[in-house]
Amino acid sequence: MKNLASYILVLLCCGLAWSQLKTARRCLREKVITFSKQTTEGYVQLHANETMDFSKITVCLRFYTDENLKTIIPFSLFTPTYLTDFTLTYSPLTKQYYLTVHNGKAAFNGLPFNLNQWNSVCATWDASSGLAQMFVNEVPSVKKAIGPKEAFKGEPKIILGQYQTGPSAFNPDYVFTGFISDVHVYKEVLTPLLIKNYMEAKIKFKLGDYISWRNLKHTLAGSVQVEERHHVTFYTKQDVN
Ligand SMILES: *[C@@H]1O[C@H](CO)[C@@H](O)[C@H](O)[C@H]1NC(C)=O
Repeated sequence: MKNLASYILVLLCCGLAWSQLKTARRCLREKVITFSKQTTEGYVQLHANETMDFSKITVCLRFYTDENLKTIIPFSLFTPTYLTDFTLTYSPLTKQYYLTVHNGKAAFNGLPFNLNQWNSVCATWDASSGLAQMFVNEVPSVKKAIGPKEAFKGEPKIILGQYQTGPSAFNPDYVFTGFISDVHVYKEVLTPLLIKNYMEAKIKFKLGDYISWRNLKHTLAGSVQVEERHHVTFYTKQDVN
């Protein structure tokens, strides 16, 4: 009897957990994802079509937050080999952006961060030189050496809105709240001109060839929601396309 009860309990719990996970493939043009709760339950997982096998990378996204104390990590890419294989971080306290590649880390000073406004961020890294560069709201950083000069390999777990500390674990100190939009991952280092097109949201900016917001297989977990950008913020030039 006790066994039956625990069996039913497990079924119920799994059912509940399962019903909270929604996986879909959609075009998210002009959509944002709203992260409204300070809990590790809410996140978005992005699914790529293929395992990673590339030596250059560019990640672009826009985020909007009013977090002025806690470190935020809008994007994290985990592999079994490297816990923080590619992670984008901003610390309001030190006013620095951080980029992590293959567990190596570099800090970038003096790049813009605006509370309650869209911040457009692109980060590039090339395994042949080991050099990274960040671009925020059209300000390019200097280049910095990060991590071992190795290609990205294997099955990634790409998460928006949480900091991954293990295969299925998130650190409650780094929960993102706000909006995230226009996430693209490229298997190359985009030129500054292409990055400028993305930042200015030019009609024909280049879409990600590894992860594309315009054709995105993704899983929504917890209280995160997809909303129309013009339902959450005023019209900006980023809404044109
Ligand atoms: C992934 O595959 C789908 C379906 O074949 C395709 O439409 C989409 O463009 C692919 N995504 C990327 C980023 O190449």
